[in-house]
Amino acid sequence: MLTPNRARRPLLAANWKMNPLAAADAVELARRVSHAAREHDSFVEVALFPPFPWLLPVRDALKGTGVELGAQDCFWERAGAFTGEVSAAMLTGWCGWMIVGHSERRIIFGETDEQVARKAAAAMEAGLRVIVAVGEREDQFVAGHTEQVVSGQVDVVLRQLAASGADRLVIAYEPVWAIGTGRNADPPLADRTMRAVRQRLELGFGARAAVVRVLYGGSVNAANVTSYVELDACDGSLVGGASLKAEEFSSMIEAVAAVSRRPAT
Ligand code: PGA
Repeated sequence: MLTPNRARRPLLAANWKMNPLAAADAVELARRVSHAAREHDSFVEVALFPPFPWLLPVRDALKGTGVELGAQDCFWERAGAFTGEVSAAMLTGWCGWMIVGHSERRIIFGETDEQVARKAAAAMEAGLRVIVAVGEREDQFVAGHTEQVVSGQVDVVLRQLAASGADRLVIAYEPVWAIGTGRNADPPLADRTMRAVRQRLELGFGARAAVVRVLYGGSVNAANVTSYVELDACDGSLVGGASLKAEEFSSMIEAVAAVSRRPAT
């Protein structure tokens, strides 16, 4: 029996965003993905992030499959007069994961670094595992400020978190200009930025940083996922559009598992 060659098991996280429109389609997608993930469980961890109303039906569809479930956002308070919000504490028990700081939340809903950090802290406090999304806008990329922007976003979050929660933390580097555009970042560029993220993690968490996974996201699909996951600095991917296509996402699971199965060099 082969064992994974990496210290950190790769993670493939499916951010469904505000899709699919019908519960039945969400359940069907979850079923097909979990079927594909079955034999690769030791080599790749798979987590699905449906919209809030589909959490329960998708949870039922995933029961006993090993595929995990998460929410796409939460509010930082536990309970109270916050119309329309859902707290991390409420989601505990329904799912095990949380995404915070996605660039669509930052840009469309005006979330600041500080707010993202509070959400990350609340999700951690509630016992969830947390993917914090970071990434530079196109103008910041063009100006050559990628590392500075991304490092700053990571630092603000780390100030709110204790190193003891490092094994429940994941950072997803997603250049804003690469999300949903088909313009995925060149792997060497993604590699540089993910290394910068790891340096910030080491500064913040010391030796505990070694258990934090760092992902790349932004127009990742079956054709290009290997070129990221085979980078030493990359522990998987946060996938949007391609995660809504059962066949394509299944191929991605296989591709990531194949990298994870490669003998260590
Ligand atoms: P994309 O989205 O894969 O469609 O580019 C990634 C994301 O938003 O997390």
